Amino acid sequence: MQIVSKILSLQAVKLLPILEIFENKNTLGNYLDTLRSRNHTIGFVPTMGALHDGHASLVIQGLKTNDFVVVSIFVNPTQFDNANDLVKYPRTLEKDVTLLSKISADNIAVYAPSVEDIYGSDVVASGFDFDGLEQEMEGQYRTGHFDGVGTIVKRLFEIVKPNHAYFGEKDFQQLMIIKKLVEKHEMPVNVIGCDILREQDGLAMSSRNMRLKPAYRAAAPLIYQTLKTAKIKFGTKSAKKVTEWVNEQFANHELLELEYFVIADSETLKTINRKSNKKTYRAFIAVYADDIRLIDNIALN
Ligand code: PAF
Repeated sequence: MQIVSKILSLQAVKLLPILEIFENKNTLGNYLDTLRSRNHTIGFVPTMGALHDGHASLVIQGLKTNDFVVVSIFVNPTQFDNANDLVKYPRTLEKDVTLLSKISADNIAVYAPSVEDIYGSDVVASGFDFDGLEQEMEGQYRTGHFDGVGTIVKRLFEIVKPNHAYFGEKDFQQLMIIKKLVEKHEMPVNVIGCDILREQDGLAMSSRNMRLKPAYRAAAPLIYQTLKTAKIKFGTKSAKKVTEWVNEQFANHELLELEYFVIADSETLKTINRKSNKKTYRAFIAVYADDIRLIDNIALN
């Protein structure tokens, strides 16, 4: 990996603080075994890189509870249902390492493996049953996506063996699925969901935002504005009425195309027909801005 060698040489001449970067799972494993033998706890933040303040907040949270944090940077091919999205996914390893070095160079390590280090020559996802969570929302629109996520997160957990792992609530369905993965496979990891970080205009932080052309970036805050108003409306109106209202906001929009808006039970992620005051609900949205797919969600009660 040329970029890693470049970063390492920059570090060697002290242009960057020294931060351990591993490309090989065995070398990382040995390093972490040594930390564990000294009774250090390990936090883990799995990412696909193109790090932003949302990722930084996960790392900072990890450093509060653990002695050491591993950040994996790996654009996982098996979770992309769209080949173009995989090709265009931003890869900014040098910038990512700089951002992490600024948080702490002493107790963060980066794991930036090759596809081969993770998958060998068999770049395929395993099949998972997440008790139906995988069939809702993203599961309906991104075939095989959660098998890819389950495969990579399980492998990363087996390599890093963290005490705690941190995931943003922007991908709320993914978070629920990873909790289910850990439960079903009895993995000794505490999975922690963290608040969504937003830009000043409300757009949920995402690595994909950097690909938005200016007009689309200017239009994108409508997504969160709509979620906030939907939440207010949900106080007095039915889920059906709120859903209809959201659909109207995007009908005929010149730049944003609504893929889905769903009000779902926060536990089962199933779309609701009738409200009950014993349950908690969340609204989920997916919108295309040009060819870039943006998702967001909000707790409703
Ligand atoms: O949320 C992401 O960035 C990815 O889905 C994850 C969890 C790093 C797995 O590739």
